[in-house]
Amino acid sequence: MDKNATSIIILAAGKGSRMKSPKAKVLHSVSGKPMLFHIIKASQEISNDITVVIAHQKEEVQAQMEAYFQNITFVVQDAENFPGTGGAMKNVAPKNDKVLVLNGDMPLITAHALQGFLDTQADVIMSIFDLENPDGYGRVVINENQVQYIVEQKDANEAELKVTTVNAGIYAFSKDVIEKYIPLLSNDNAQEEYYLTDVVSMARKDGLNIAPLLVNEEHFKGVNSKKDLSDSEVIMQNRIKTAHMNAGVIMQLPSTIYIEEGVEFEGESIVENGCRITGNSRIINSHIKSGSVVEDSIVKDSDVGPLAHLRPLSNIEGTHIGNFVEVKKSSLKGVKAGHLSYIGDAQIDEGTNIGAGTITCNYDGVNKYKTIIGKNVFIGSDTQLVAPVTIEDDVMIAAGTTVTSGTVEKGSLVISRVKLKSIKEFYYKFFKKS
Ligand code: UD1
Ligand code: CA
Repeated sequence: MDKNATSIIILAAGKGSRMKSPKAKVLHSVSGKPMLFHIIKASQEISNDITVVIAHQKEEVQAQMEAYFQNITFVVQDAENFPGTGGAMKNVAPKNDKVLVLNGDMPLITAHALQGFLDTQADVIMSIFDLENPDGYGRVVINENQVQYIVEQKDANEAELKVTTVNAGIYAFSKDVIEKYIPLLSNDNAQEEYYLTDVVSMARKDGLNIAPLLVNEEHFKGVNSKKDLSDSEVIMQNRIKTAHMNAGVIMQLPSTIYIEEGVEFEGESIVENGCRITGNSRIINSHIKSGSVVEDSIVKDSDVGPLAHLRPLSNIEGTHIGNFVEVKKSSLKGVKAGHLSYIGDAQIDEGTNIGAGTITCNYDGVNKYKTIIGKNVFIGSDTQLVAPVTIEDDVMIAAGTTVTSGTVEKGSLVISRVKLKSIKEFYYKFFKKS
């Protein structure tokens, strides 16, 4: 693909009032990444000249996108004087003759779905689809097989409201069309906004060539409300999970599994029902059992769960993590931690067994400290490891021990216990029973 043939403009300056949220609409997440992220990612497969128009929360939107992408041009819309999707186009300066304009609230778009815009030749190419319920979309009025105009829902009369062909919100214009018609837009409408969609009727009146492109909702759905957001999430999740299954991952009841964009699988892994895997997690030849959460962690040749929680920056290899075990920012290689433990800021080596109820006390209320555990260590149940602490190889820790000394030497047994007392008949005296 010639990435220098097309320029892309993404409109991301709107408030998104219908989201009823303090957060800018384009920053709401679908599968763990802002909507705008997904659109820029798809755009980068097509073009080297991408402009994002911002205004509402512009610093935040720009900063979040710059954390993911380079070489994006940001243009600020004068949203006070020129509100609306047409106003958003006032300050753009695309480099190429063909200009693709995308709404910033269409997270399901892919480069493949945009191919039709690149293959078609016309002064204006616009996307349409037919919906049983066209609510919220601009209606496309077609007469004599020609697109005549687009009317926004808020401006539509009764007959126009019944039209089920809607404007999907993606257009390809020639640069000349943008330069000619954007300055001519007026805001004489219900919302007192400059509508980009009015370019279509103006171009039509001047006899320009307008090509409607039939697209599908699966890729072109716009997100205006939190219900739309959750509907998009379902579509995106299906897409992500289908790709992983096609690459060899086994998923049980995939509709109950949530996997963020950015998660990677290698080899053959099994993910049971009800799991959540997020961030840049990598799962390699492992079994993630029912109800487990894996965040930004690497799991290799291991089994995790049911009901385990791997928090960010955990690195688990050749390890068994059982139920109700929480691991955070720790590396475990060849370890067994079968039941009810908290392992935070720890490094644990091969052959070590972590007994039920073992807790790393990694936080003193101000700072976090590390726990280092060597090879073949046997940690008895209900052990507290008060960090910073180092347990060398071949150590035994008796059940119920609180380890406070900085280093336990290789081969030792540590035990800290209150001597067991047994007071005869105490129960009967205490409850005055005989
Ligand atoms: C728009 C179209 C409508 C179409 C629908 C498809 C117009 C006038 N209407 O309506 O015909 O059916 O998309 O999803 O274009 N934006 C700005 N600056 C603004 C206003 C909006 O950059 O001043 C951006 C928003 O951030 C958003 C996009 O433009 O990403 C679309 O805005 P939105 O308000 O969602 O338009 P719709 O009412 O959905
Ligand atoms: Ca919209």
